Amino acid sequence: MNKSITLPQWLDNIIYNECDAIYEPRPEDVMTNPDKDYDFAKLYLGTYFPRSYAEAYCILRMMMDNKNYYQILNELTELSVLDFCCGTGGEIFGLISVLSAKLPNLKSIRIDAFDANPDYVRFLFHISRKYEGNVEVIINPQCYFIQNEQNLQDIINSTNTLYHIILSCKALNEFIQHSVFPNENIYYKIARAFLPCLADEGILLLSDLTHKDKKNGVFYPEVMNNGLNSLLRSDNRYKSLYPYSCFFYEHHCPNCYMQDIFYVSHSRKKMDISKIAYRIIGKSDFVIQMMNGIPSNQKCKANYPQADKNVPYQST
Ligand SMILES: C[S@@+](CC[C@H](N)C(=O)[O-])C[C@H]1O[C@@H](n2cnc3c(N)ncnc32)[C@H](O)[C@@H]1O
Repeated sequence: MNKSITLPQWLDNIIYNECDAIYEPRPEDVMTNPDKDYDFAKLYLGTYFPRSYAEAYCILRMMMDNKNYYQILNELTELSVLDFCCGTGGEIFGLISVLSAKLPNLKSIRIDAFDANPDYVRFLFHISRKYEGNVEVIINPQCYFIQNEQNLQDIINSTNTLYHIILSCKALNEFIQHSVFPNENIYYKIARAFLPCLADEGILLLSDLTHKDKKNGVFYPEVMNNGLNSLLRSDNRYKSLYPYSCFFYEHHCPNCYMQDIFYVSHSRKKMDISKIAYRIIGKSDFVIQMMNGIPSNQKCKANYPQADKNVPYQST
């Protein structure tokens, strides 16, 4: 499976030439984003937006290799998406690119996107106005800073549709770092909160960084697997869809360390590397239908030979 892509020229041009985005990896600074200023937003846009684009593009492309899922998506003319903690929206444009490239019947994509950082949201809005493509794209970016249960419920109550894709990418580690919802597993909490907003054929994608949280001494992928497995073990309305191994192991997985690697090239960097952990969940009947024909001898991503807990996000 090819996990390497190039940022489209129109996006490359907007972010680096119009928005003056800067490529400069800052692994320490990028851990916390809600209060970052405009200058850092340009750095986020130039460095992390392309990685997020590649991650979403490649993961969705892998999902669409599933013939059952492709058939369902290809019958839809309109798609609705919700992005929780969207940042500058790299993953949104990755999704739009892969969906519009592979689904000839698709006419429009509607996206509700939420994030705490106003400059990140502004960049997302600006880029969405410049979108060049054959599908109508309606993005509704909103600034929300989640600090308590009520804030989270406000977002959920503000939605008035069921979504085909709900995603939250590389953000939930920030809730752990800053003890938003202390004593709760954030992946469990966010999945449980948003799963009722899924359409019958919808998917929830959660991704996150793969290093260890300094304060709590935990690896984010292990916390993610712990939270999601316990949710799925206690609620049989939902099941894991991807990685496929999780469908077969979710009831006896020891909450493993998972990591996958993607590469993105653009005008400022060739083959920039991105390492993340992720999981896709859906309604049980739908997932079982999607798994029809998928062999059960799936390699577990926990045993992925390049996964490295010690160098989870090595970039220069
Ligand atoms: C590392 S960025 C990821 C952005 C985007 N999803 C991506 O993959 O490129 C994490 C995002 O989560 C947002 N975030 C973190 N804590 C938040 C909170 N408590 N409420 C709302 N947004 C938050 C930050 O503002 C930031 O944009």
